[in-house]
Amino acid sequence: MAISFDRSTKTFYLDGRSITYAFTVNSYGYAEHLYFGKKISHDPLFFTRGGGMGDHEPLPPEVRRGYASYDMMWTECSFHGTGDYREPCVLVENAAGDRLSDLLFAGYEILSEKPRIPGMPSSRGGETLVLHLADKFTAFSADLYYTVWEDEDVIARRAVYRNGADTPAKLRRAYSFSLSLPGQEYDAISFYGGWARERTPERTPIGHHVYAIDSKRCSSSASLNPFLVIAGRHTDEDRGEAIGVSLVYSSSFVLKAQGTGGGDTLLTGGVNDFDFGYHMEPGEEFYTPEVLLAYSDEGLGGMSRAMHDLLRDHLIQPRYVKSSRPLLLNNWEGTTFHFTYEKLAAIVDAVKGTGIDTFVLDDGWFGKREDPSSGLGDWFVNEQKLEGGLDRLIEHVHGAGMKFGLWFEPEMISEDSEIYRAHPDYAIGVPGRDHCRTRQQLMMDLTRADVRDYIADSVNKILHSHQIDYVKWDYNRDVTEQYTLGLPPERQSEFAYRFALGVYDLFERIVEGNPDIFFEGCASGGARFDPAVLAYFPQIWTSDDSDAEERTKIQTGTSYAYPLSSMACHLSSCPNHQTGRTESFATRADIAHLGATGYELDSTKLTEEEIAAIREQTAEYREMEDLILFGDLYRIDDPFTGNYFSEAIVSKDKSRAYLIAYRRLGGVNSEAHRVKMRGLDPKKNYFVPELSLILSGATLMNVGLIPNFGGHASGDFRTAKFHFEEK
Ligand code: DGJ
Repeated sequence: MAISFDRSTKTFYLDGRSITYAFTVNSYGYAEHLYFGKKISHDPLFFTRGGGMGDHEPLPPEVRRGYASYDMMWTECSFHGTGDYREPCVLVENAAGDRLSDLLFAGYEILSEKPRIPGMPSSRGGETLVLHLADKFTAFSADLYYTVWEDEDVIARRAVYRNGADTPAKLRRAYSFSLSLPGQEYDAISFYGGWARERTPERTPIGHHVYAIDSKRCSSSASLNPFLVIAGRHTDEDRGEAIGVSLVYSSSFVLKAQGTGGGDTLLTGGVNDFDFGYHMEPGEEFYTPEVLLAYSDEGLGGMSRAMHDLLRDHLIQPRYVKSSRPLLLNNWEGTTFHFTYEKLAAIVDAVKGTGIDTFVLDDGWFGKREDPSSGLGDWFVNEQKLEGGLDRLIEHVHGAGMKFGLWFEPEMISEDSEIYRAHPDYAIGVPGRDHCRTRQQLMMDLTRADVRDYIADSVNKILHSHQIDYVKWDYNRDVTEQYTLGLPPERQSEFAYRFALGVYDLFERIVEGNPDIFFEGCASGGARFDPAVLAYFPQIWTSDDSDAEERTKIQTGTSYAYPLSSMACHLSSCPNHQTGRTESFATRADIAHLGATGYELDSTKLTEEEIAAIREQTAEYREMEDLILFGDLYRIDDPFTGNYFSEAIVSKDKSRAYLIAYRRLGGVNSEAHRVKMRGLDPKKNYFVPELSLILSGATLMNVGLIPNFGGHASGDFRTAKFHFEEK
């Protein structure tokens, strides 16, 4: 049993692989947090509580209640208006217009079968505790869900809020969780960015203030990923405590860390309450997205590995999370919108027999589409441009022994399109006001069922009438003018939340509805890289910046929250489209191999040597793919802070490993750079082919290795690799 309840101390213990989460029902009747951290025994933990609500007070509960400092009580769901001045997890406007809550423990259930969240993705399996809280004075209630897995170091949490009254109420804030941590010696690490520079870590001390990251875009966005690390002040990559907070949500979110006046730290967040309000009819429930809380005392690396395991074992679709990935060639950087059947057929022929097994036709095959200004929403083949239609090309691709992939951008609509001319109301916007036209396109109003029906039917029609093996699902702008013709004025502030439900509905009908097709996510690169998307798409295009040097950073930043197998990484041509930089073919391949790999270029322009190199690279990738899919990641040299990047991937049984080292700038007579291997078994011996030596894990991890970047005058952007096989 991963969940137990000690009746004598009224304490719940949730035990994972090496973590414990504990809370109690205190003598005032509140669910009060006690502990989240490394695994402990089921001792009583009241002695840890000493603040204004300490149970050691000699007064009877009802008297004490009047004296109590609620903001020193670590409620499992912080609430507003009755003395807790910390960030509330929930804020409800009751029928009388007051915003008070007083949520008392009202019972619990332990479920062996994890219930799905209606309309939303979430993790699977584990054991789930449902904690019922009920307001002392109104019929408002909250169910807090906690899932724990015996073999994982993650707790999943979420809340369901219910208006049990016979009058409407309004939710003004509906976060997924709140969690109190002892003390204030923490840093927050967030992952900021923008187009082509996604997920840069930024470390900030949490002081006596509210630290927050958010999105107001109806997408998780490249600006700030819905992932936050709370790390001890002295926590580094390998040592110290870290909690990773990952929200399984793709719309406007907020995650907060507050250094409280009581000397503690409160974490909370979920659906962004900026520009939010949810009208609750009598009996109506509101479902919050799930949040994953990964704990490790083995530094940021341990936290990442715990999160990667959970995502791979219990969130990403089992049908493809651990299976060999398509090794593809995508034509986007090679041709953009400008191709013909002959050009595409030649691109396919050029890589026939190289180990590339999937050809993906990117943007420009449908409607009228020669640039970003038109065609979106017209999901029918442009046979004038693609002579012979899709089937002729698919036949050619299949004839070359490859699978066929196709690009869509289902959530979008162009003003210059047949569908917009017929249904201008399908686009999001406020009647009588102007549209913001990012990338010259508008967005479909996914809060409306009829709009979703049109999209699902037209995309599925293409998928069902051609032999399509793979889909790249793009999303190239964020929502503006958040408004729908489908809701009354008092419900307009539900838009961002309902948009997320609309996105998931489309994912269900198109991705889940076509289980034999492999789906990859994309959003102008990695602008919607979050666990909710990963619940449907096993991999996401990490960034439109395919330059190897830049990718060492983007992929490292992404790896804090997401496993290598979820990151699509391609070798593209040089000078690089985005940066103009030139790196060797080998370096570009080595960096692109640190994920779900592929090529993104016009293959008809490759030299014979490069085609031969692709043959070797694809074989090499298939050899190491099991490490990408199943292995443990160890970040070693941080590309954000020095001239080097290195990381190791180690098999779970520690019998195999791979180490890649990268030197940004070469130098003259440079000092040797030593890389200490990580994650091996110190007692095992490993054959290292690059050295023709058998060395112990202890030697490799303590003495280290000197990567050979090519010696004198070898230039910039060089890689060196080591392989380790148990002997
Ligand atoms: C943005 C994506 O990130 C690119 O890979 C490509 O698919 C373009 N959109 C096509 O418009």
